[in-house]
Amino acid sequence: MSKDVRQESNQSIAKKRRAAEAVLPMIQAGDYLGMGTGSTVGVLIELIVQHRLSIRAAISSSEATTAALQRAGIGVVDLNEVADVPLYIDGADELTQHGFLIKGGGGAMTREKILATASRHFVCIAEDDKLTPVLGRNHPVPVEVLPMARSFIARHLAGMGATVTLRRGLSDNGNPILDCSRLDLANPVTLEQAINNLPGVIGCGVFALRRPEVMLLGTVDGVRRLPA
Ligand code: 5RP
Repeated sequence: MSKDVRQESNQSIAKKRRAAEAVLPMIQAGDYLGMGTGSTVGVLIELIVQHRLSIRAAISSSEATTAALQRAGIGVVDLNEVADVPLYIDGADELTQHGFLIKGGGGAMTREKILATASRHFVCIAEDDKLTPVLGRNHPVPVEVLPMARSFIARHLAGMGATVTLRRGLSDNGNPILDCSRLDLANPVTLEQAINNLPGVIGCGVFALRRPEVMLLGTVDGVRRLPA
């Protein structure tokens, strides 16, 4: 690995850490906390331990996050056991200043969207480089599908203009994921609804119907909050 790449990577980690640190004051001791998936959430879990924040328990969006929480000694409960989730915190792959997101780089978007929608507040933590004027420039939209509908849905998404790639492996729910690049994301709400309406779609990585109330973006020297 070249020095430049290492520096970039260190800068990215520092930005994730700044974003994760900025969300700590929003976490209330004794409350349930919904937890997303990914490296930024991994940093958050470390910080929760370092700062000795005593949450009631976490509700996890993936097997990877559950394992990280358990390693950190943080209790995990099932969403079915919790009537009220005050706060859900998660990362994103791309985001716009209006709070539209692409998620699911880690394949966890279906459970992530359930938790985001079930929670009263959704805060997104990410590096500022992920901010984009239009979604879909750097990341495909992942679509989780029932196995029997995989080819039918892939053809339908191709008909909508997507270049579709079957992701290796399965989601935590045991389903295939279709990564769709070149979709027209000018209107993310319409696109999310169109994908959701296809029979056999379990969930997709466009987060437009449920957007974060706050986005905390780590920068080279601080944190940018959106909306400001
Ligand atoms: C996982 C996700 C993650 O939030 C997204 O991929 C960002 O990950 P990271 O924090 O590692 O950059 O949607 O399904």
